[in-house]
Amino acid sequence: MDDPERRLVASWRANARAWTRSVREGRIESRRVATDRAILDAVRGLGARRLLDVGCGEGWLARELAQEGVTVVGFDGSRELVVRADQAGGGRFHHLTYAGFAENPSRLGDGFDAVVCNFSLLSEDIGPVLRACRAVLAPHGALLVQTVHPVLGGSEPPYQDGWREERFDALGEGFRSAMPWFFRTLATWIRELREAGLQLHECREPLSPTTGVPLSLLLVASPGPDPGGEPC
Ligand SMILES: C[S@@+](CC[C@H](N)C(=O)[O-])C[C@H]1O[C@@H](n2cnc3c(N)ncnc32)[C@H](O)[C@@H]1O
Repeated sequence: MDDPERRLVASWRANARAWTRSVREGRIESRRVATDRAILDAVRGLGARRLLDVGCGEGWLARELAQEGVTVVGFDGSRELVVRADQAGGGRFHHLTYAGFAENPSRLGDGFDAVVCNFSLLSEDIGPVLRACRAVLAPHGALLVQTVHPVLGGSEPPYQDGWREERFDALGEGFRSAMPWFFRTLATWIRELREAGLQLHECREPLSPTTGVPLSLLLVASPGPDPGGEPC
């Protein structure tokens, strides 16, 4: 199976158990020291009450936000992760791929105050899923994308878009499959948002409290003019 997109989705089925353990046992240092709080603070800053979690994984974000009265709908392409999210509660979770979401964006609801992609945009072609996110946002809503920091956090040179591979070596045993993921530069992230009809408002770079290295890039965008829309 050479197609990286298929291997990417398959890896989240194969690694569901190990990933769930890593998240729930706080094994991922960058999350523990900075990036979990960064996305939670960004959601809180919006005052969001209804949120769509795109690529929700095992559902930690919903569980955190449910305690604050936020209604969360999550979906993910790994049935194994969705089952685990559902068992743990905190939101309504659905098994759905990004392709399925893009085909009919409002199938899980619309008018969301916030749509979150927390380390979940890993494919090469993210235009359709970004446009679907835009479609289900309320006019006042915001899209939050947290991702690997393009400059210092994520990748060996050369600094250019392309497929990379994550082996999860730092997370201990149990990972049965490497995960292909598509690295993109800061310029490409900004262009992807613009081409999907999203206006970038803010760009945050959560730092490691010990090394001062940026651990992620967090983009805040809102619906702009529809790039392919009907003339008014
Ligand atoms: C690194 S995990 C992040 C999970 C969660 N957002 C979190 O913060 O823990 C990436 C998630 O994106 C999901 N994902 C990646 N590509 C997908 C696709 N094409 N369709 C549906 N889910 C996808 C994976 O199944 C996985 O759960």
